[in-house]
Amino acid sequence: MKDLSPRYLTLVTALIFTAISAVAIIGISFLPGVEIHAEQIFIGLIIIFLGAWFALYKILQAFIYDKIKLIFRNMHSLKIERDSLKPDMSKDVLGEVNEQVIDWAEDRMAEIKDLRQKENFRKEFVGNVAHELKTPIFSIQGYILTLLEGALEDPNFNRKFLKKAAKSAERMAMLVEDLDTITQFESGNLKLELERVDIVELSREIMDGREREAEQKEIVLGFSKSYDRPIYVQADGFRISQVLTNLITNSINYGKKGGKTTIHFYDLDEQILIEVEDDGPGITKPHQGRLFERFYRVDKSRARHQGGTGLGLAICKHIIEAHKQSISVRSEPGKGAVFSFTLAKA
Ligand SMILES: Nc1ncnc2c1ncn2[C@@H]1O[C@H](COP(=O)(O)OP(=O)(O)OP(=O)(O)O)[C@@H](O)[C@H]1O
Ligand SMILES: [Mg+2]
Repeated sequence: MKDLSPRYLTLVTALIFTAISAVAIIGISFLPGVEIHAEQIFIGLIIIFLGAWFALYKILQAFIYDKIKLIFRNMHSLKIERDSLKPDMSKDVLGEVNEQVIDWAEDRMAEIKDLRQKENFRKEFVGNVAHELKTPIFSIQGYILTLLEGALEDPNFNRKFLKKAAKSAERMAMLVEDLDTITQFESGNLKLELERVDIVELSREIMDGREREAEQKEIVLGFSKSYDRPIYVQADGFRISQVLTNLITNSINYGKKGGKTTIHFYDLDEQILIEVEDDGPGITKPHQGRLFERFYRVDKSRARHQGGTGLGLAICKHIIEAHKQSISVRSEPGKGAVFSFTLAKA
């Protein structure tokens, strides 16, 4: 009985109905005083058969149409054209509807799973933000209380504590600014201002800006060779300077004392590949895959001590992906790390 089309069903039912009628009519014709000719019986049966078939066909069609409409309405698919709901009576209509309902249910399940995952991300994100804000807020509170309790009058401590409180406030401001950037990227509100940028010049500026930090750690910043000609890329200069700043700052913060950070440019067909390489401790494989996640840090206590919030690389990834390019890391633990990203040539 599986996969029977409504047309076939009505045909069989009409035939059964006609057969029962035939038996009844033939029975009646044997009653005394009743005289029915064979041709009359034959014509009568044909009329009964056609009438029954037509009526059943129409009733079943209307019934199926009504039920399908109800199912689709429940599936919120009212956008579907009315005509596409008209059942094709020569096919297994209900079987097809069943398949569509299963597809629909699978889609909804996938949607629910996705929403649950997003909800978990959101909870984790809010938890991380609260955790990151707690440290500077508590230390500002601590310094202010100590000052109020008498340190304000003590020339040995008042400036020192105020400076420390200011540093914590600065850290908090940086975190809020990073969060704002990430949120704007994620909600798609941040538009890039693409221009023709000389990536050599931009890298040089960023390295000059980090020179003092590098010197403190005796790290030498430089290019892999002398790039005396400009290399033009299609990019948002401000955003790419954020990427380079984070990569170079990371190489100083997490690199080894007395090491070096080198920038290379490679000419690919339609892109320029930019690499920031250091000779620090590097990053083990399990961490490499997670570095670009928000708030992810390899050595949590050490990174926090150095002022990092773990948002830098997440922002870099957003910026590079907004340029429709990619960023990645490779590293051999103990030998250093290489962060590379591409930009379209201009
Ligand atoms: N060159 C590197 N060598 C070794 N580890 C690195 C390097 N760059 C990044 N890391 C690791 O990756 C983590 C994430 O880096 P990311 O730039 O996202 O955050 P952060 O530097 O901790 O904080 P932020 O950049 O927001 O101030 C760092 O905490 C560090 O553990
Ligand atoms: Mg960083």
